[in-house]
Amino acid sequence: MVRVGIIGAGFIGRNHFNQYEKMTERAKVVALCDKEADRRAGDWSKVGGNIGDKQGTKRDLGNIRPYTDWKDIVADPEVDLIDLCAPTFLHREVVLAALAAGKHVLCEKPMALTVEDCDEMLAAAKNAKGRFMIAQCIRFWPEYVYLKKAVDDGRFGQLRSLELRRQAAFPDYSLNNWIANPELSGGAILDLHVHDVDFALHLFGKPAFVVAQGCQGTGGGMDRVHAQWFYPGSSRVTQLIGAWDMPASYGFNMGYTAVFEKAALIFDLNPNTPLTLFQGKDEAQKVELPAGDGYFGEIQHMLDCIEQGRNPTISTPQESRDAVALALAEKKSILTGKPVEI
Ligand SMILES: NC(=O)c1ccc[n+]([C@@H]2O[C@H](COP(=O)([O-])OP(=O)(O)OC[C@H]3O[C@@H](n4cnc5c(N)ncnc54)[C@H](O)[C@@H]3O)[C@@H](O)[C@H]2O)c1
Repeated sequence: MVRVGIIGAGFIGRNHFNQYEKMTERAKVVALCDKEADRRAGDWSKVGGNIGDKQGTKRDLGNIRPYTDWKDIVADPEVDLIDLCAPTFLHREVVLAALAAGKHVLCEKPMALTVEDCDEMLAAAKNAKGRFMIAQCIRFWPEYVYLKKAVDDGRFGQLRSLELRRQAAFPDYSLNNWIANPELSGGAILDLHVHDVDFALHLFGKPAFVVAQGCQGTGGGMDRVHAQWFYPGSSRVTQLIGAWDMPASYGFNMGYTAVFEKAALIFDLNPNTPLTLFQGKDEAQKVELPAGDGYFGEIQHMLDCIEQGRNPTISTPQESRDAVALALAEKKSILTGKPVEI
């Protein structure tokens, strides 16, 4: 049984908490840390979100140990896995401390705000006793797992073009609106768009160069990015769109259009277009997928690695570091108006 300590009981922390409740045979949340008294006591009625469980409720945490200071939960000898769901600006410091304390660490995306911070975390993980993974949930999301398999096994022929899109209203639920400050969150390009950057990396590896345009928001962060990735010797179109400047009434959408030689796949979470396969003149077909979401899948993979004493394979910390580097390369392209070599 893996004993879990969650740090940060905001939107994603309570989502992870709910996932552990579905896998009680292999993991148990034994401790929870939040600097806010109501949140660490299980009152999540004021905690919102934009996907999955969008509105929190009051929970009975029973004998789960509450912590105010993250250093104390990291020092708890009866915690095996630190599940880090605190804001991005804390990732580097907490990960380094938790790995040094011998814990396994599952850390929310983006890995960190700079490539230098990611490199420091990678170096620490190399010598650590614990397993380390960044929670890149899209690699585990059923619609995206299906796309990866279809690209890899060529069942629909070669992929001619892919558009990955993630468009949302501004996420206004974060505590004290820390997400609005690009120095704390990295702006839309790191906080939101990094999901698709990481997934394109998962599908195709690193491009030779990227070209991007975008819209800057107040505070200097990027609110919108439209990027194209170029691969030598390939005519495939790879386009990534990420934005959090949509009207509030739009909510949140993620999706993709993948055009193969012999078929097309289209998915949109909102307005609820389930993954659909288009082939020739056949009627469009809803693709049957396993139940669950990427949050469930990523935690299962982390637990597999801990139980089997091996490092993560579906999402490696090196790849999560490269995703941060690529997102920042896109930002550089927007700011300079030039292609950026990778
Ligand atoms: N994978 C996904 O789909 C996804 C979705 C949302 C957020 N995230 C990531 O998760 C992280 C958290 O985002 P969120 O939306 O849950 O934010 P949030 O503001 O809703 O929650 C953060 C929580 O951390 C707590 N916290 C802040 N500083 C703390 C400290 N020093 N010690 C202890 N607790 C502290 C806050 O009180 C708050 O409850 C970010 O890195 C974000 O990018 C990932």
